[in-house]
Amino acid sequence: MGLIFRFDFLIGGAARLIRRNRRLNEPAKVLTRIRSPLPGRPTKVSGLRPLRLIYKVMSNTTPIAVITGAAQGIGRRSAEVLASRGYAIALNDLNSTAKTQASVRAAGAEAIEVLGDVSSEADVARIADAVLARFGRVDVLVNNAGMSFIRPTEKVEAAEWRRVLEVNLTGPFLLCRAFAPTMLRQKLGSIVNIASIAGLAGLAERAAYNSSKHGLIGLTMTLAAEWGGRGVRSNAVCPGWVKTEMDAADQIRAGYTDEDITRRIPMGRFATVEDIAQAVAFLADPKLSGFVNGETLRVDGGWLSDFGWESIRLRSR
Ligand SMILES: NC(=O)c1ccc[n+]([C@@H]2O[C@H](COP(=O)([O-])OP(=O)(O)OC[C@H]3O[C@@H](n4cnc5c(N)ncnc54)[C@H](O)[C@@H]3O)[C@@H](O)[C@H]2O)c1
Repeated sequence: MGLIFRFDFLIGGAARLIRRNRRLNEPAKVLTRIRSPLPGRPTKVSGLRPLRLIYKVMSNTTPIAVITGAAQGIGRRSAEVLASRGYAIALNDLNSTAKTQASVRAAGAEAIEVLGDVSSEADVARIADAVLARFGRVDVLVNNAGMSFIRPTEKVEAAEWRRVLEVNLTGPFLLCRAFAPTMLRQKLGSIVNIASIAGLAGLAERAAYNSSKHGLIGLTMTLAAEWGGRGVRSNAVCPGWVKTEMDAADQIRAGYTDEDITRRIPMGRFATVEDIAQAVAFLADPKLSGFVNGETLRVDGGWLSDFGWESIRLRSR
């Protein structure tokens, strides 16, 4: 014999459960999504369908984050931190993200891998299709994949210049464009672009890298202006020096030392991937940063705030 449920009562209960148990992006919006197809009166539902519906409603409300360059470094830690905050994660990289997948799942979150080159239009279309086919929505896009390039400017080939711009700037543009229709339809989304303090100042022998990061900050501010009124925020994180594989390779290539960096930074240390990932999580979450749009958040231990010379800096430590 079929049971008769008051459907709106059921939905109200499910929504209360969701609010209590999950860190939702915008509960009010979820409620609107749930209620909108209903005529506003009790509905007859029988058998197991109510339970299936509750499960579907709850699983649909898990926020989804896409993170590029997630096999290691800042991307991996950002995935882990967002997973611990209740996001399901789509992990992109050129290389296997197996280690990141394992730690995301260990944090109790769902992870899918979508390999591909962010600078390739075809790869980005495939990445977006795979994410939307699996989750049907996207709440956060972290454009983290990037490459370093250090060479005296007079020796940089045009092809090298183009490659850096394609990965560090065209890639984020392609991903923003691919996920924008969904975010704009949802009237909800947060784009977090991992730029650099190299996007806010100059540094010798890094013309292509610095230009790409300056460009990424320009893209961030433009999208903030264009999409902010439709619920999609865009912000940039600007790390200073972070201890990752990228820095290790750069030190060998460019011949600088840990001490060169730590003596220059007021706080006297490198950034950790945790420092950057927490900034990403802050900008991702509309409850924490809902009116922050077009911002460049420096996580550099005060590097750019300090124009003093070394002896005065070291004397004040
Ligand atoms: N490490 C630093 O000191 C530092 C400082 C400022 C900004 N950043 C920026 O932070 C981001 C992450 O840096 P990291 O230190 O973790 O670097 P990393 O080299 O350790 O990791 C970068 C990841 O991006 C992936 N990747 C590179 N090109 C790709 C492409 N075309 N498509 C898809 N994936 C690609 C790599 O395979 C790698 O897994 C980069 O955008 C970098 O410019 C790093």
